[in-house]
Amino acid sequence: MRFVRICLIGYGRVGYGFVQVFLRHRVWLAERFGFAPKIVAVHDIRRGTVFAPEGLDLARLAWAWREGRDLGELGQSGAGLDAFAVIRDSEADVVVELTPTDLRTGEPAAGYIRFALTSKKHVVTTNKGPVALFGNELLALARENGVEFRFEGTVLAGTPLFSLVEFTLATPIRRVRGILNGTTNFILTHMEAGRSYAEALAEAQRLGYAETDPTADVEGLDPLAKIVILANILLDGDLHPRDVPCQGITRLDPAEVRRAPAEGFRWKLVAEARRTEGGVEAKVGPERLPLSDPLAQVGGVLNALTLELDPLGALTVIGPGAGPEVTGHAVLSDLLAIHRRSAWATGGTSTVFSW
Ligand SMILES: NC(=O)c1ccc[n+]([C@@H]2O[C@H](COP(=O)([O-])OP(=O)(O)OC[C@H]3O[C@@H](n4cnc5c(N)ncnc54)[C@H](OP(=O)(O)O)[C@@H]3O)[C@@H](O)[C@H]2O)c1
Repeated sequence: MRFVRICLIGYGRVGYGFVQVFLRHRVWLAERFGFAPKIVAVHDIRRGTVFAPEGLDLARLAWAWREGRDLGELGQSGAGLDAFAVIRDSEADVVVELTPTDLRTGEPAAGYIRFALTSKKHVVTTNKGPVALFGNELLALARENGVEFRFEGTVLAGTPLFSLVEFTLATPIRRVRGILNGTTNFILTHMEAGRSYAEALAEAQRLGYAETDPTADVEGLDPLAKIVILANILLDGDLHPRDVPCQGITRLDPAEVRRAPAEGFRWKLVAEARRTEGGVEAKVGPERLPLSDPLAQVGGVLNALTLELDPLGALTVIGPGAGPEVTGHAVLSDLLAIHRRSAWATGGTSTVFSW
């Protein structure tokens, strides 16, 4: 059995979610796919740094997160080292980058990812910033270095999208339209049921769906980053977020939101990208959708994306768009894709694919 060696940079909620999902399913993953990755280093600015060339005990790693223990207690401590040094010294094949998102600069993640790729390590990230701002550049860098750059968790979190397109679709996508932000969809669903905008936002904050500062969600900046990723990766675009018209939900008339269903419509915050004669265009804004549109049926914190392509017409994916374990599933899925491809390239085994 071949071991994928992982270096985890940023061990917050998604990192812990990933470890939990992996712990629950590792026996099945090993039996079914011959997939048994080892986490050989973890670096987190708050929780410390550990190296474990033989692989960390996952249950202890999860325990350290829950108990707020310094990671150095779990193995060889890397106290004082920064992320670059940890990536360099870890002897990992894959860097899993899970630091916070900065949608203006993409840093510090973009620097870590460039360094890992040029060090010929595969990279998996769930961080929208570097992919929205530098996605195609980073993919080119990965190709130049003969490694993979994967980011399933950046859009629709753990609901498969990029792998679905990569492994199953055989013709170009013409247009994508989606509900890419669960917080605003939750707020709109509750406004439609009669709550004010402020009440719906407060409820979203109480349930942990919205941040204390909800600007990135309610002003549409989060779906803006995601639609730029989709435009550039799935539609071969070259857009920067500043090129894309973006309006959030703060200016919607609550009475209009409540009235729409009786008239056969529903208000949604829709992000769209499409191929045009001149290239690719994208936009984010509230739309009054007919109830017959699959996107109009997506309520609460769910996300959805409709892909349009020949000859399938419209194909809609609906699923959870956030949450530590859901996003951790995306990390696991990307790691499995790397394992399958490299196992295939080195001769394949009967367990690489399960059927
Ligand atoms: N949570 C979700 O549902 C979700 C869904 C999709 C995508 N994502 C994306 O996934 C990434 C991780 O999200 P999360 O929810 O796990 O965030 P999080 O809970 O804030 O975890 C990030 C961790 O990285 C640490 N960190 C910050 N800067 C660092 C650096 N330079 N080097 C090493 N560690 C650093 C943070 O420490 P401090 O707390 O001290 O800063 C924190 O422990 C983000 O980019 C997020 O946008 C999250």
